[in-house]
Amino acid sequence: MSEDQPLLEVENLHVSFPIRKGFFQRTVGAVQAVNGVSFSVPRGTSFGLVGESGCGKTTVARAVLQLVEPTAGAIRFDGEDVAKMDAVALNRFRGRVQAVFQDPFSSLNPRMSTGRIISEPLRVHRLTPESQIKAEVARLLDMCGLPARFADLYPHEMSGGQRQRVGIARALAMKPELIVCDEAVSALDVSIQAQIINLLEDLQKELNLTYLFIGHDLSVVRHICDQVAVMYLGRIAETAPSDPLFAAPRHPYTQALIDAVPNPDPDYEAGRHIAPLEGEVPSPANPPSGCFFHPRCPLVTDRCRQEAPHLDPVAPAHFAACWETAQTVPAE
Ligand SMILES: Nc1ncnc2c1ncn2[C@@H]1O[C@H](COP(=O)(O)OP(=O)(O)OP(=O)(O)O)[C@@H](O)[C@H]1O
Ligand SMILES: [Mg+2]
Repeated sequence: MSEDQPLLEVENLHVSFPIRKGFFQRTVGAVQAVNGVSFSVPRGTSFGLVGESGCGKTTVARAVLQLVEPTAGAIRFDGEDVAKMDAVALNRFRGRVQAVFQDPFSSLNPRMSTGRIISEPLRVHRLTPESQIKAEVARLLDMCGLPARFADLYPHEMSGGQRQRVGIARALAMKPELIVCDEAVSALDVSIQAQIINLLEDLQKELNLTYLFIGHDLSVVRHICDQVAVMYLGRIAETAPSDPLFAAPRHPYTQALIDAVPNPDPDYEAGRHIAPLEGEVPSPANPPSGCFFHPRCPLVTDRCRQEAPHLDPVAPAHFAACWETAQTVPAE
């Protein structure tokens, strides 16, 4: 496969869930959790997904991990359509793509020692001969900043940060190329968060890992990601490399999200220009017409109520879906 080929490509992904009601669980509607999402992630880079609760971030992650079936669209890994993989390729894919979730307490089996948690995938996939498993577990713990004696501890005997290190060590056991981090640091204290982020960054450099990084803390996502996509109600509202996205957002929703984060600089506070986000995110079971953001948008026009905007280029690698702000390309 060519070097330039993105490791992960998501093309026009749709995922809907049936809404069932009553004794017979009749299907009475559908939740469009993901509604035409496309992006690609070059090898060795980090791609971030942000947006308010319920906008479909986890559903995109679950589709990439093959935990939920897309209603439409394609997911390609290293150039290969995942839906068309045979059993052997799919089995390999399940090793090449690993996940780290928010709450390691619920994703680590409380009755298993750390050593067993980390070595289980090695045994299941027969990656390491039995005689070398102990050394391999120690090596993986060491990579994640934990001493070998942690192999004998159980999840409840560790702190949240240590448990997340074990979660990362377990993911690394399979020698993955892509790691999906869904709110992987969100439950941790700020100082512990910074340590885990440093660990993820060090591992990325050392192992040339690719991350799909989901988070609601914009400063964390900005720090760790090369490219970021802002989702709203199952669609991408704007995507850009981290710096321009945060320094010069073009979509009113991105501007509102960034403005919602308190800034210690008083000049910045005085210069706030966008009204805070008002109202709730509408239900994805019954989305608004036209641009999904129009009922909350300060720049709304009639066109926005009728027609959904496309993601248009506004600068290199920067796209925004807005009739009002994405149409003029600013002078470089
Ligand atoms: N298995 C499911 N069955 C029905 N609806 C679902 C299912 N999973 C997710 N949804 C719905 O799909 C939408 C998107 O959910 P998702 O969990 O992907 O959002 P999210 O962006 O990850 O939110 P959060 O920030 O709260 O984690 C929500 O409206 C959610 O209720
Ligand atoms: Mg989620």
